[in-house]
Amino acid sequence: TPSPIIAPSILASDFSRLGEEVRAIEGAADWVHVDVMDNHFVPNLTLGLPVVQSLRKATTIPFDVHLMIADPQRWAPAYAEAGAYNVTFHAEACDDPVALAKSLRAAGAKAGLAIDRDTPVEPYLELLPYLDTVLIMTIKAGFGGQKFMPEMLDKVRDVRRRVTVGDLDVRIEVDGGIAADTIEQAAEAGADAFVAGTAVYGAADPAEAVRKLRALAAG
Ligand code: DX5
Ligand code: ZN
Repeated sequence: TPSPIIAPSILASDFSRLGEEVRAIEGAADWVHVDVMDNHFVPNLTLGLPVVQSLRKATTIPFDVHLMIADPQRWAPAYAEAGAYNVTFHAEACDDPVALAKSLRAAGAKAGLAIDRDTPVEPYLELLPYLDTVLIMTIKAGFGGQKFMPEMLDKVRDVRRRVTVGDLDVRIEVDGGIAADTIEQAAEAGADAFVAGTAVYGAADPAEAVRKLRALAAG
C-alpha cells in the first residue's frame, strides 16, 4: 500500500475564514477535501464552483473535490478546469462513469468514483482501469460528524484485492467518521487516502491532528 494521503474536509471548517482554514493544514496535509452538495443528490447544500475558483487562488494544496450532486456529467469537468487535482463523482448519480472519468482526465484531473453507503461496489470493480481514485463512503453521504460504519470496510477490501491483482494505480479513499479511533482499521482494510472533517477541524490544532492521523494510518 502506498504512503497514506490525509485529506481534511473543509465541511467542518469555519466557512467565514475558508482561506485561513485551508492554509492552516497546508504544510501538514496532502490534499484538501472539498464537499460539493446540491440539496438534490443529498439533502444538504454547501458550496460550488465559484467558491472553488476563489479558494484555488488562496492556497497551493491540491484539491480533492467530492461531488455529491445529481448531475455530475454537467459540472465535473468545470472543477477540473478550475484546477482541482482530483474530482470524484458518485456512481449513483452517473449513468456513464467511464465517459465522465475520461473527460476528467482529458481536462487534466484525476478521476474518482464514489460509492455511497447503500451501494455495492462489485459492479464497479471492472471500471478500475479508468479511475485514479475510488472513494468508499463510511457513512451515508450528506453530513459531517456521523458515526463511522466499520461494515463498509468490506468494500475497501474488495477494491484493494482487485487493485493488487491488477497491479493498478488507484487510490482507495475512505470518507466519514475517520478519526484517531477508526483510521487504523480503515488502513488495515486497504485504504490509502483518508478524509477527515471533524477530527481535523474540530481539533484545537488542525495541523497536529493531521500529523497524528498520518502516523496512525502509516501503522
Ligand atoms: C459527508 C462528506 C464528508 C464529511 C466527513 O458527506 O462527504 O467529507 O465532511 O466529515 P467527518 O469527517 O466529520 O465524518
Ligand atoms: Zn466528502
